[in-house]
Amino acid sequence: MSTEQLIEMARHNLAHSRAGTIDQTDKVLQVPARHYYDQDRWRLEIDRVFKRVPLMLAMTSELPKPGDYKAMEAVGFPILLSRSDEGQVHAFVNMCSHRGSQVMLNGKGNTNRFTCPYHAWSYDQQGDLVNIYAPKDFGDVDKSCHGLTKLPVIERAGLIWVTLNPQSTLDMNNFLCGYDAMLSHFGFENWHFFESRTIKGPNWKIAYDGYLDLYHLPILHKNTFGSTMPNQALYNSWGPHQRASSPDPSLAKLENDDPQTWPVDTLMNGVWTIFPHVSIASFYGGGRSVMISQLFPGPTPGESYTVQNYLMADEPDESQKEQAREQFKLLEYVVQEEDYATGLRQQQALRTGAKQHVMFGRNEGGGQRFHSWLNQIIAADDRELNELFVLNLS
Ligand code: FES
Ligand SMILES: [Fe+2]
Repeated sequence: MSTEQLIEMARHNLAHSRAGTIDQTDKVLQVPARHYYDQDRWRLEIDRVFKRVPLMLAMTSELPKPGDYKAMEAVGFPILLSRSDEGQVHAFVNMCSHRGSQVMLNGKGNTNRFTCPYHAWSYDQQGDLVNIYAPKDFGDVDKSCHGLTKLPVIERAGLIWVTLNPQSTLDMNNFLCGYDAMLSHFGFENWHFFESRTIKGPNWKIAYDGYLDLYHLPILHKNTFGSTMPNQALYNSWGPHQRASSPDPSLAKLENDDPQTWPVDTLMNGVWTIFPHVSIASFYGGGRSVMISQLFPGPTPGESYTVQNYLMADEPDESQKEQAREQFKLLEYVVQEEDYATGLRQQQALRTGAKQHVMFGRNEGGGQRFHSWLNQIIAADDRELNELFVLNLS
């Protein structure tokens, strides 16, 4: 089914490419400028979006083996991900039941015991408390009631989503709206995790808007990769998740072949975004590769950070590693010095309050849809939130 959808999208793309057209939205959208700097709005985005919807926090290739773990922080929330000997991924609040120390330092590794650095209480891969230091001295504690706090987690398409609310009743499948089936065509569960780095940026939405925006490519990026890039985009959506791709005349060469033989790489071109904060873009540095960018709001409305992860379809040899490093270095420059440097200046200007609104054109449907979903999610109570995604199931 999802392959049929990919083929259909490629046909749609080719028709637009031939006609020189795109799918335009009904009207130009105005977004209040204060949404990019207002403290209250920013708080709502963290509390009602980032702390309620599943976030794609890790890739399967970061913790592929039994016993692998990843400790990290997202929007100030300490998280521990662990793969048990049975191969199942678990997610916990990285917080000891004794007096709340973070059990593991941020980073990745492999272990069958998580031992707290403060007083050595230890937990197994399922988060169960298995050892208390000097138990006779400490006094009675029912170990079975004091494991790590579990967080809802789901692993699909070689990606791992976690909801930062242990009490969440949101159905994670509904949230995905069938998008995981589309992403599964990358086959990320078998890819190689190459490198990652973190870069700082402006307000998270100023940064994220850029990932859904192909309109700027030949302009802002003219000195790096953009001079020959089209400025037009076609958007497909699965609930809040969106793909952006350029009309691509080269698809014409596939037309006479059986669609079932069309190369998956070609069918999966463009930028695949995962609401509310992830973008996946394809490259060929060192072979088939992607950069998966995870954006997070920083400590203030004017700050964000982005984890750029470089994944490769195959384990690279030395020369491929070199090419991958070159590609990844260029991407760091492009995002830091072109996108985010522009974003920081944009933010400084927006903060003056001189304009009430910014605009997203009829050609910028991706940004329009993203901002509309944010508003809907912020406005929804927990029951309505579930329904929002059910209504969008494809
Ligand atoms: S806080 Fe973890 S063992 Fe004391
Ligand atoms: Fe850009």
